[in-house]
Formats: sequence, structure tokens, C-alpha cells
Amino acid sequence: MAKLSIRDVSLEHKHVLIRVDFNVPLSEDGTQIMDDTRIRETLPTLEYALRHRAKVILASHLGRPKGKPNPQMSLRPVVDRLRQLLGHSLGQSVNVGFSPDCVGDTAKEMVRMLESGQVLLLENLRFHAEEEKNDPAFAKQLAKLCDIYVNDAFGSAHRAHASTEGITHFVAQSAAGLLMEKELNYLGKALTGPEKPFIAILGGAKVSDKIEVIQNLLDKVDALLIGGGMAYTFLKAKGQDVGKSLLEADKLDVARQAMESATKRGVRFLLPVDHILADKFAADAHTQIFSGDQSFPADWMALDIGPATIDLFVDEISRARTIVWNGPMGVFEMPAFALGTMQVAQAVADNPSATSIVGGGDSVAAVHKAGVADKITHISTGGGASLEFLEGKKLPGVEALSEKTA
Ligand code: 3PG
Repeated sequence: MAKLSIRDVSLEHKHVLIRVDFNVPLSEDGTQIMDDTRIRETLPTLEYALRHRAKVILASHLGRPKGKPNPQMSLRPVVDRLRQLLGHSLGQSVNVGFSPDCVGDTAKEMVRMLESGQVLLLENLRFHAEEEKNDPAFAKQLAKLCDIYVNDAFGSAHRAHASTEGITHFVAQSAAGLLMEKELNYLGKALTGPEKPFIAILGGAKVSDKIEVIQNLLDKVDALLIGGGMAYTFLKAKGQDVGKSLLEADKLDVARQAMESATKRGVRFLLPVDHILADKFAADAHTQIFSGDQSFPADWMALDIGPATIDLFVDEISRARTIVWNGPMGVFEMPAFALGTMQVAQAVADNPSATSIVGGGDSVAAVHKAGVADKITHISTGGGASLEFLEGKKLPGVEALSEKTA
């Protein structure tokens, strides 16, 4: 059954607590927001609530302060940015207040004073250890601040914390926000009714980080394109010596089984056919292109996919109708090893007939770096959450929301 949406509930003059994921990167001193994507992505929900004259209370975590106040992880710098962004998108100034604690007397009093059409941002939930412990008494304190609870924090939906799961037991209605709905729609459709051919491009360092995604997608995709450090565990499992490339020796069996399952299901499991090898892990390393399935030179390591692999992957991408991408093809932070990831980003962007979904911090950074973010159908705001979704896991923050009744 579908989950209740913010659009299904009457918000007018109600205290609406919206759990957002404002876990944004801050400068070292904690004063500057380095990337406000996650704030911008919640604007449709916030605008919706404000236009419907709700009294909007925003709750989020930022970083991992381990249950104690930490000024470098304060949400205070978000206030000004939020005021600017909301003012711009609503075309009028919006009153955005800040409560220095997310619970307690000050928070209660500031919530009581809040008027319809105004916003109150609460301080970092994780300044209280009870948040991550999903402590019921703490969840109840949060619940008491509001009439309606909305979860728009897709990025935190894989966490069963007091503000994402516990609170739903103490409020009458728990609805999904518009960002949450959008994320679930795109990712859900990819898993349940993708237009074919459906391909997944998976990269990043470790097989262990992606193996459950691979296993879950094997029943659904037409092809898996594997790049990044994890490719070398698969190549080793096929019998190729990979020099000093990244290798998870304890994952060779798992890798072999995944490739066998792919063959049984008729899924094309595409590994790099050539590589950019480096003589050290450094931006100024000596490099060489290496192709074929013979052993790599013993002291060299692969840090990017090679040109023939790029051609192979670009061709697959150009024919796909649904593309899920998570994880870079190489060490793209270093220009010498960025080409594979950049060309994959460009190829995904150059396929206008495909629904493309990009998740995971590095691949999202890559599409921005390649300047093609606006050509991607959906860029997920959830790193861990989107991975767990693709693994086929239920997300506690979604499961806990109220069901739509009619
Ligand atoms: C994220 O950045 O992936 C989310 O905000 C969750 O953060 P966490 O991994 O610290 O729970």
C-alpha cells in the first residue's frame, strides 16, 4: 500500500515537524556551507507547507557528533541560507528562526510562538545520544512539538533513529515529503518496472560495499558494467593477476558466484578490458595503458578504466533505456585517472531516451564535475539510503510512515 503524502494531509495552522536531511558539508570551522544541494532539494516540500500556511518545524542531523553538542556541527549556518533560498523561491521574505536545542523548554516555547507561514529550524538532533539510540522518551519529546510529522529526509531513511522512526509511534499522522516521494518513485520504478534495456554501472573501491546491490540487481538488469577498484577483485577471481591494484582477497568466492549467477540469468557482466596502470598511487605517477587478460606488471596498479573499456561502456550506455549509476570508474579526483568516470558521466548525459539515476557521493560529484548534472533524470540525495534501497532492503524511515487509507 502507498504511504501517506504531505499532499494528503491538511496543514493549515498546524505545527508540522519536517525531518529533513541537512547533513551538508561545512567548512572546517563549521561556519560555511560548502554544498547546499540537500537544502535546495527540500525546497518544494517547504514551499508546499508554507503555501498551505503550516507552522514549519525543521529537524535534522549534521555530521556525527556522537551524542554531544559540538559547535562545528551546528545547524545554525543553515538558517541564513535557508532564508535566502526560501525568499527567492517564494518571492517574499520568510521568517526562519533557530532553536539552540531540538528539545526542552526553549524549543517548546519557540514552537509555541511560531506563526503560520514561519519556519523554525531545530539544532542538530545528534547532539543528543538518544536520537541515534531511537530512544522512545526522546522521540516522544520531538513528537510533542507537532501535530503532523513529515519525513523528507530520504538520505537518512535507512537509519532507525528517533527522528526518522521512533517519532512515528507518537504522532497521529506521518507523511512522506515531496523529496522523499520523488526519490522513492525514481528508485522504485527502476527496481520494479524499468524500461529495458536496464543497465547498472557500479564502481568504487570495494566489492563488499556493492555486492548486495549486485545480487539484488541480477534479477532485474540486462547488463552490469563494473569499474573502479572493485573490478580488480572480479578480474582476479577470473584468474588474472592484477599487480598492486585494489584487491579484496576474502571476496574472491563471492565475486566468482556473482559472475556465475549473471551467466545463469543471461545478464552481461562487463568488466574492464583495458586499464590505466600507474606505478604509484599519486597524481604524478607514471602511467601506461594495459589491455588483455594476461598478468599486470607486478608493481603497477590500475587506477582507471582504459580507452577500449570506455568505448565498450559508452556503447552499452547509449543503448540503455534505464541507467542506474553508483560509484566512479577510477580515481577521478586525480586528473590522470579521471577520464573513465568523466566519459561515463558524459555518455549517461548524452542518452536522452534513458531514465538515468545517479546515487552515491562520488558519482554525484562526478556528474557535477563533468558539468552534466542537469542532464541526469534523477540525482539521489541519499548515499547510504540509495544503496540500501538498491540492495532491496526496506528503509525504516519509509516503513514507519502512515499508510494511505483511501
Ligand atoms: C548521509 O549523509 O548519507 C546521511 O545524512 C546519513 O548520515 P549518516 O551516515 O551519518 O547516518
